[in-house]
Amino acid sequence: MSFDIALNFEDGVTRFINCGRAESVVDAAYRQGINIPMDCREGACATCKCRVESGDYSLGDYIEDALSSSEADQGYALACQMRPTSDCVVLVPTSSTACSTRQESYVAQIKEVRRLSESTFSLALQGDGLKDLVFLPGQYANLQVPGEEHRQRAYSFSSMTARGNSVTFLIRNVPGGLMSSFLKERATPGGEMIMNGPFGSFYLRPLVRPLLMLAGGTGLAPFLAMLDKIVAAGGSPFPIHLIYGVNTDRDVVEIDKLETFTRLIPSFTFEVCVVDANSERPKKGYVTHHIEPAHLNDGDVDIYLCGPPPMVEAVAQHLRDVNVKSASFHFEKFAASIS
Ligand code: FES
Repeated sequence: MSFDIALNFEDGVTRFINCGRAESVVDAAYRQGINIPMDCREGACATCKCRVESGDYSLGDYIEDALSSSEADQGYALACQMRPTSDCVVLVPTSSTACSTRQESYVAQIKEVRRLSESTFSLALQGDGLKDLVFLPGQYANLQVPGEEHRQRAYSFSSMTARGNSVTFLIRNVPGGLMSSFLKERATPGGEMIMNGPFGSFYLRPLVRPLLMLAGGTGLAPFLAMLDKIVAAGGSPFPIHLIYGVNTDRDVVEIDKLETFTRLIPSFTFEVCVVDANSERPKKGYVTHHIEPAHLNDGDVDIYLCGPPPMVEAVAQHLRDVNVKSASFHFEKFAASIS
């Protein structure tokens, strides 16, 4: 029996390794070509100290100088001693290059390009090349624009797991944009695309309290992957509310999928708000206009936000204005790129 361990490096790179039941994380990583910093290998020097963000494990043998009981209580562990007893997410406090990790690269074929609205494409990639792909729900990959070898664009996965070896992305239609132009003018089913990743520290943590999800435009994508994952895990005992904000009615996409999630996850609700005052939707304005005290649950809430930088600032300011400090606030900022 082995477990999937996500190693998240401080430069945002994630690598997955499998770790045998009796194997330490350091040994499993080395076996798979990743040199987690270490020295004594005996639980004495603390060089290999990491923080375990989720999962179950035994701490192994070590001395108090290397790992204090308060650090252990906070989720720190020594990778040379730690033995996972479930899948885990481990934060490694150094860069992936310092650990000699290779960039993971996948060759996939275009399965489908769909125009979900004037402003949004859905891109599905498939192929045997994706069979080893694993990522955390909420993470992103860099897609290389075919014919533009050195130009990549970052997109969050909008589906979880490579069902039938396929993954999907939501892509904003940027007039004149490199990827948008490719999707509109040249992309054909079967065409090859290179994907690098996964990357990013924006991913779903263990569900331990209510969740508030805030999506701006195509920032909806990572939440679709997270909700996919929650469905696969059997739902959530805690309320999950999504506020999905867009600029105009034409930008609203994937409502059918969100409605399906409300049926599959009984504790999930969502609402859509539109900035355009002429919108036909009942809720107008920005996401911050629709955050209710009940969504913040007196601070006992984990907030996830994916949207443009001003939205991140606006939500942070809103939390200050209402004097609520949430249990956690995870965000991913993105900006459309043209060149
Ligand atoms: Fe020294 Fe792990 S390498 S404590």
